[in-house]
Amino acid sequence: MSKILVTGGAGYIGSHTSLALLQAGFEVVVLDNLSNSSAEALRRVAQITGRAPSFVQADVRDGAMLKEVFAQHPIDTVLHFAGLKAVGESVAQPLRYVDNNVHGSQVLLQAMADAGVFKLVFSSSATVYGEPAQMPIAESCPVGRPTNPYGRSKLMVEDMLRDLAAADQRWRMAILRYFNPVGAHETGLLGEDPRGTPNNLVPYMAQVVVGRLPELAVYGNDYPTADGTGVRDYIHVVDLAEGHLRALQALHFRSGAHVWNLGTGQGYSVLDMIRAFEVASGRPVPYRIAPRRPGDIAICYADPTKARLELDWVARRGLPEMMSDTWRWQHMNPAGYG
Ligand code: NAD
Ligand code: UD1
Repeated sequence: MSKILVTGGAGYIGSHTSLALLQAGFEVVVLDNLSNSSAEALRRVAQITGRAPSFVQADVRDGAMLKEVFAQHPIDTVLHFAGLKAVGESVAQPLRYVDNNVHGSQVLLQAMADAGVFKLVFSSSATVYGEPAQMPIAESCPVGRPTNPYGRSKLMVEDMLRDLAAADQRWRMAILRYFNPVGAHETGLLGEDPRGTPNNLVPYMAQVVVGRLPELAVYGNDYPTADGTGVRDYIHVVDLAEGHLRALQALHFRSGAHVWNLGTGQGYSVLDMIRAFEVASGRPVPYRIAPRRPGDIAICYADPTKARLELDWVARRGLPEMMSDTWRWQHMNPAGYG
């Protein structure tokens, strides 16, 4: 039986997607260097599904190792999550982001071509739209100039994929532009476990509520939005994982490189998020208004129509579920995977 290779499969989105793949009956090989994750996530995946993915601890930049993996396993498709994602870090260490995200993808693509594997699902980001020209953002909206080196690394990989698909018709590629993934698996066993102080709103808020951090800084209340705080399209990570399975199916009868937004189409402000988390946790979220964060945009939410029509996929989980699943994960695992 053919298998799916999941790079970065021990990470936040990769672990939830590996779980969904196993539950759908796929054979899964995870390749991860554990630079931002723990093998415990894969043990939890096995605990929930009753099936363990094969695990290779390796770096996607290691072409010789990839060659071995493709020789050992009958891999049909690659889901490529492996990469670095911290915006601030990318500003301080831009070359590291080019090396890991862009060069890493190049090495992987070469190894795939050498092994005759031409189906790929790539984790891109709404950040490639830069300062969006229209709202909601459809895939037809031109990509902009991302506000940071992390975002530019995603756009460089997207361009590399489009060039490759144009040069060789054997490639079948899904470029998935995620909006803001949040939430956790409903069991509370899998979730987001950021190293150090979280950069993103929801994990930060969750750590404030359990007392690991003193208070949340709300970055700006003078944006042109209903309550002045930034608006984003938060999407449950399990909905996102399901989107990958639909993209995988869509590649059976589509060649070339295709882009799909994975978002809900619904925007929530930072204050909406605080209130929803207070309801889910039954606890207050102490916060103060702080200056805007450089590089932030006011509003960003998806037009998810293309994914609905072409992938038959819609996000089904609403904000209360996103927040209660985050809270269950945080509550059951106050120190993450430990
Ligand atoms: P994550 O850090 O939890 O997962 C990434 C995984 O890749 C980690 O397990 C890490 O150890 C591994 N990894 C990193 N570099 C590697 C390398 N060179 N070789 C092998 N493994 C490597 O992040 P995530 O939130 O699960 O994100 C997954 C992907 O989705 C990333 O490519 C990210 O840029 C993209 N993305 C994430 C978000 C988000 O908000 N989480 C939004 C848009 C796009
Ligand atoms: C950020 C990244 C983006 C990346 C995405 C997912 C930036 C500029 N953008 O998006 O490139 O793809 O994460 O990893 O970093 N907020 C607060 N207080 C906080 C944290 C956030 O008020 O402590 C606000 C932000 O101003 C924003 C919203 O919450 O309005 C969401 O922020 P965040 O979770 O960091 O995601 P993005 O900024 O959308």
